[in-house]
Amino acid sequence: MSKGLIFSGIQPTGNLHLGNYLGAIRNWVALQDEFDCLFCVVDLHAITVEQDPAELRRATVELAAGLIAAGIDPEKNILFNQALNPNHAELAWLFNCVARIGWLNRMTQFKEKAGKHRENATVGLYDYPVLMAADILAYRATHVPVGEDQKQHLELTRDIAQAFNSQFGKDVFPLPEPQIFGAATRVMSLRDGTKKMSKSDSSDYSRINMTDGPDEVALKIRKAKTDPEPIPEKVEDLGDRPEAKNLIGIMAALTGRTAQDVTSDYAGKGFGDFKKGLTEVAVEVLGGVGAEYQRLMADPEHVQAVLARGGEKARALSAPVLQDAYDVMGFLGVKRPY
Ligand code: AMP
Ligand code: TRP
Repeated sequence: MSKGLIFSGIQPTGNLHLGNYLGAIRNWVALQDEFDCLFCVVDLHAITVEQDPAELRRATVELAAGLIAAGIDPEKNILFNQALNPNHAELAWLFNCVARIGWLNRMTQFKEKAGKHRENATVGLYDYPVLMAADILAYRATHVPVGEDQKQHLELTRDIAQAFNSQFGKDVFPLPEPQIFGAATRVMSLRDGTKKMSKSDSSDYSRINMTDGPDEVALKIRKAKTDPEPIPEKVEDLGDRPEAKNLIGIMAALTGRTAQDVTSDYAGKGFGDFKKGLTEVAVEVLGGVGAEYQRLMADPEHVQAVLARGGEKARALSAPVLQDAYDVMGFLGVKRPY
């Protein structure tokens, strides 16, 4: 039984790692039993910043393979890349003529991403949140699972839906609810507990990749930076030990327990013992994902075919919504084939 319709998007970035898995992908996997879901690789959003065509293609396949390997079922859900459904870009244009410049001027992500070179940022980067609103509303999605940083974009989506409905006197769009990921798991570098685990870190020992086999996972955990102090009973007593906190946080996230549970289990022990336990858990959780990912990446055309089927389903689902939008806006003779 479905509680509603979920839409969520993730930008295609290559070299998926433990941070992507625990911070984003895993949350989606958990939702697919309760909701009808559309999961979208947002390639049109990726081109708002400089993007190399070969890299975009590679990252799109890699992310799709990563999502499937992590447990997203492409039969049960609609999994596709955004560019396969032109309705997103079309609806974004209609919304461009409803959204106000003043609303977009308040978006903090644009300010952060554009930085000092605002005049040189693409128009697409500025308009990014309007396309995001179209992604969601093209399906009349009711729930949108995202990280805290996307909350403001969700509010804008609701503003656009409300403005559209009131301007044209018909409730064409629902006001979707954000589902902010609980206690956002921020996974830090294995070499420096103050830096986020990232695909762009020059040291491969700083991250566990979704492609790493059991031996690499074990080696990276063994080499992970720690300190000689034992693990305290209470999590607050970890104080200023970023590397220790990170490893305990990873253990908690992988086992679905709290950091306090983890420190209680290992109270008084050193990191040698702890790392053995962490390796076992990490290999158990990630081992299957990594192997499945490798298998899928050996046949990228199969992955592309899976996305293509998702794209067809997505187009069919959004066609009547686009038709309604065109009709209430007064366009003459528009008949949506899809
Ligand atoms: P990125 O590769 O940075 O574009 O991130 C893709 C997704 O993974 C986003 O939802 C991020 O919030 C999430 N993510 C990336 N790195 C981390 C990290 N170190 N810890 C937690 N989540 C992360
Ligand atoms: N902006 C989102 C991010 O960077 C990605 C995204 C694009 C998205 N379209 C979306 C998320 C629609 C949820 C719904 O994480």
